[in-house]
Amino acid sequence: MMHAVEIIRKKRDGERLTRAELEFLIQGYVAGEIPDYQMAAWNMAVYFQGMDPEEITNLTLIMAESGDTLDLSQILGVKVDKHSTGGVGDTTTLIVAPLVASCGVPVAKMSGRGLGHTGGTVDKLESIPGYRVELGPEEFINQVNQIGVSVVGQTGELAPADKLLYALRDVTSTVESIPLIASSIMSKKIAAGADGFVLDVKAGSGAFMKSEEDAVELAKTMVQIGTLAKRSTVALVTDMNQPLGRGIGNALEVKEAILTLQGQGPERLTELCLELSVEMLLLAGVTNNHGEARELLETNLHNGAALKKFGELIAAQGGDPRVIEDLSLLPQAQFQEDVLAPRGGYIQKLDPLEIGGTAMELGAGRETKDTIIDLAVGLELKCQVGDYVKEGDVLARIYGNKGELMPHGVARCSKAFTIGDTQPPTLPLIYRKITVKDV
Ligand code: URA
Ligand code: CA
Repeated sequence: MMHAVEIIRKKRDGERLTRAELEFLIQGYVAGEIPDYQMAAWNMAVYFQGMDPEEITNLTLIMAESGDTLDLSQILGVKVDKHSTGGVGDTTTLIVAPLVASCGVPVAKMSGRGLGHTGGTVDKLESIPGYRVELGPEEFINQVNQIGVSVVGQTGELAPADKLLYALRDVTSTVESIPLIASSIMSKKIAAGADGFVLDVKAGSGAFMKSEEDAVELAKTMVQIGTLAKRSTVALVTDMNQPLGRGIGNALEVKEAILTLQGQGPERLTELCLELSVEMLLLAGVTNNHGEARELLETNLHNGAALKKFGELIAAQGGDPRVIEDLSLLPQAQFQEDVLAPRGGYIQKLDPLEIGGTAMELGAGRETKDTIIDLAVGLELKCQVGDYVKEGDVLARIYGNKGELMPHGVARCSKAFTIGDTQPPTLPLIYRKITVKDV
C-alpha cells in the first residue's frame, strides 16, 4: 500500500518516483482522495528537487490521461500541432493553420479561450461574424478531412489533473518550476491528439521565461517529453521583448492575420509564421529539406492559396468568408485615439507587458473566466524597436468602446515606449531551434 506522505518524503529527499507512485498521487488527487495540503507539499518538493526526464514524461502522460483525450486517427495524414507559451501580439495560429493546411498538411486545432491581455485563438475567431467555434468531434474530424483544417474551442475535459494542479501551484508559489510547467503544457497537447508538436517558446520581458537560458531549458524539457512520449517534437525559442505583431486585441489580430495572409503583414510576424510552418511541414514529412518547405510556404503565402484556405475555414464553420477581402466586416470600435511621440529619437524599448496591459484595460482580455471581452478594442502599433521617430509621430493607435477609458489607455500605452538618442541593437527574432539532438 502506497502512502502520499512517503512519496512526498522521497521527493523531498531528492529520490526519483516510479510511474506507479506518480499515478497514485495524481489519480488520487483528481479523485479527491489526496488533499490539497499534501499535493502542495509535493509541488514544493518538486520545485526544489526537480525531476528526471523519465519522471517528467510519466507525470505528463498520467495528467494527459486524467480526462478526455482526442482521437484524431480518423484524419488521414500526420497531424502536427503548434503551441506558443504565450506573448503579446502573437497571432501566429490564425496564420499558420491555413498556411500549413494550404500545403496539404491536416490541421486539427483545438484552442482555448484562456486568461490574458487578449482572448485566446477561439475568441479572436469569434470576431468573424457567424464563425462557430463549437463543433462536435465528428464534425471537427469530417471538416479536416474535407478542407484540411478546423480550429475549434475545447470540448470535453482535457487533462483535468493539470487544471487542478495549476490552480494549486498558483496559490502556493510553485508555478515557476520547469518540470511542472513542461508537464502542464505537454499534458494538454498530448490529450489533444496530435502526432507531433512544434513549440514556440517565448523568451523576454513579455514572456513567462524572462531569460533565453530559462526558455532554452523549458524548450529542451518539452522536446524531451514529446520524444519520450513518441511524438516528434521541435521547439523554436523566440523573442518576446517587444510585441510580435502590430495588432493587439481580438478583431485587430484577425485583421492582422488577414493582412499577413495577403502578404502584407509585419516582417517579424510573417517571418516567425513561416519558420514555425516550415517546422510543421518537416515534421509532417512533406519534405525533409528546410529550403524546399520554405519555398512552398512562401509561394502559398504570395499566390493567395493560404488566404483562400482561411476563407474556406471560415465558411466551413459558418462565418462570413467575405471578411478576407473586406476588413470592415470585423467589429469596429467606437473611439480611436493616437499615442504621439513626446520627443524625437530611436525606439529603444517597447514593453510588451505595458502594451498587453493597455489592451486588457480597454476590455480586450479576461481577468477571470467569467469576464466578457470586447472583441473590437485594443491597439495597433505604428513602430517597433529600432525605428526612428520624430516628435509628434504616431506611435500607436488605441481603439476603445468606452470614452472614459481612452485617456488612461493613451497614458498607459505611452509608458511602453522608451525613446533615446542612440539606435539600439536589433532584437533577434529566433534565438535557437531545439531538436531531439539537443536534449
Ligand atoms: N502554462 C501552462 O499551461 N502551464 C504552466 O504551468 C505554465 C504556463
Ligand atoms: Ca496564444
